[in-house]
Amino acid sequence: MGIQKICCIGAGYVGGPTCSVIALKCPNICVTVVDRSQERIAQWNSEKLPIYEPGLDDVVKKCRGVNLFFSTDIHTGIQEADLIFISVNTPTKVFGNGKGRAADLKYVEGAARMIADIANSNKIVVEKSTVPVRAAESILNILRANNKPGVSYQILSNPEFLAEGTAIEDLLHADRVLIGGEDTPEGQLAIEELCKVYEHWIPRKNILTTNTWSSELSKLAANAFLAQRISSINSLSAVCEATGADVSEVARAVGLDSRIGSKFLQASIGFGGSCFQKDILNLVYICECLNLPEVANYWQQVIDMNEYQKSRFSNKIVESLFNTVSGKHIAILGFAFKKNTGDTRESPAIHVCKTLLIEGAILHIYDPKVEHDQIMADLTHPSVTEEPEVIRKTVHIYDNAYEAAKGAHALVVCTEWDEFMALDFHKIYQVMMKPAYIFDGRKILNHDALLKIGFHVQTIGKRIQRPIQARLWGSRVQT
Ligand code: UDX
Ligand code: ADP
Repeated sequence: MGIQKICCIGAGYVGGPTCSVIALKCPNICVTVVDRSQERIAQWNSEKLPIYEPGLDDVVKKCRGVNLFFSTDIHTGIQEADLIFISVNTPTKVFGNGKGRAADLKYVEGAARMIADIANSNKIVVEKSTVPVRAAESILNILRANNKPGVSYQILSNPEFLAEGTAIEDLLHADRVLIGGEDTPEGQLAIEELCKVYEHWIPRKNILTTNTWSSELSKLAANAFLAQRISSINSLSAVCEATGADVSEVARAVGLDSRIGSKFLQASIGFGGSCFQKDILNLVYICECLNLPEVANYWQQVIDMNEYQKSRFSNKIVESLFNTVSGKHIAILGFAFKKNTGDTRESPAIHVCKTLLIEGAILHIYDPKVEHDQIMADLTHPSVTEEPEVIRKTVHIYDNAYEAAKGAHALVVCTEWDEFMALDFHKIYQVMMKPAYIFDGRKILNHDALLKIGFHVQTIGKRIQRPIQARLWGSRVQT
């Protein structure tokens, strides 16, 4: 018969886009995405989707109401499905054992318990959320301990490798699909059923099947490797600044070695996003629990280097502005953790803003896609400030870069949005305080052109010398 009905628990950044693409590519399968948040589901059913992701609107428009449904009726969703994806969030634990490192599996456990309560026919349950190795076993324990007569479960691990901002492309043209399951005839049969779903658009040779634990560990490993590359190049960016080398040239020279490859060698103000930090902390915690301290320390360094990079950049801003930003207006361009998303989870911009706010700066923030409320929520969060009222008065959010730059002493690029490259910096220079500083945390601007206009420019992994003429002009303006 094959899979006819899919239910996805969790309508977030993973569940929403993934199921939209499954619905698009499998017109014979009915896909229902359920969430306990009424607001989220209402947004998925509206004109303005809850997440910004290039190409997503078109896919949803094509399938919604045809074979793609968004609903809060979790009960019916689970009951009718042959296959259930668990795509709930797995944040880092904020209290108790493993606090600050281990993944909090309460939402995964909650989803498993709901399935156990509701299901009255056989189900294939697929973990899509990134979870610690052996989490599938916990899900299985919950399901089998609450087994009803005539109901059996197969648990598969099918980690999602999509990156935000390119989610639809990543889903449509996945490098690989990974499916892990039990090494039993029933387990293999379940793997086969899920393979058939993906085979609607992914060539079979790109669908890898493994045991459950390999699949779970591979997701953590892939994210750890990617983040490690960024920390490696970021560490060298500090060496470049100290020696006069240019990190972009180094990255290019290194990346042209086909054994190394050119991707994920872009030095930046540090990586952000919901996955990298969380997954590496999780890996570190697992290694500690397995009594592998050397391995734990090795991966912890990737996080430590990221913290160093974020602090290094924030401190450079303060130092360059004559060691004080108290009362100074600073424009922040970009608040999302990367371009083409409105997501701010673990965004390095939060770190930069926090440092500047602690130092007494007044911030003018602009991001093309992040909602104003989200920026304020992030900056008034207890991890950033104990005085949210003060922050509300010192943070101003704007609808375009020119407004944000008005009266600013410095402009800080935190996200690599394409539109920042096309800004009229002559116009921006006119409305800023002098001397006007630009800190390009993403290395996207034309630094020579900025120097010619009269800006003082600082970036990552490269010393920028002002030409003599600009220096003279700058000092004339200062006096
Ligand atoms: C990541 C993984 O790429 C994806 O496979 C996994 O499923 C989820 O985690 P995501 O966090 O959405 O995806 O975005 P990604 O493109 O990996 O970027 C993460 C962070 O690294 C961003 O802050 C980005 O700006 C930064 N980055 C990326 C760099 O600083 N330099 C680079 O060269 C690449
Ligand atoms: P991710 O980035 O992993 O997709 P999100 O936070 O964007 O994470 O989405 C996870 C979604 O899962 C949220 O919308 C949350 O409301 C939903 N969720 C969590 N637990 C449950 C549950 N037990 N039942 C239904 N939805 C849930």
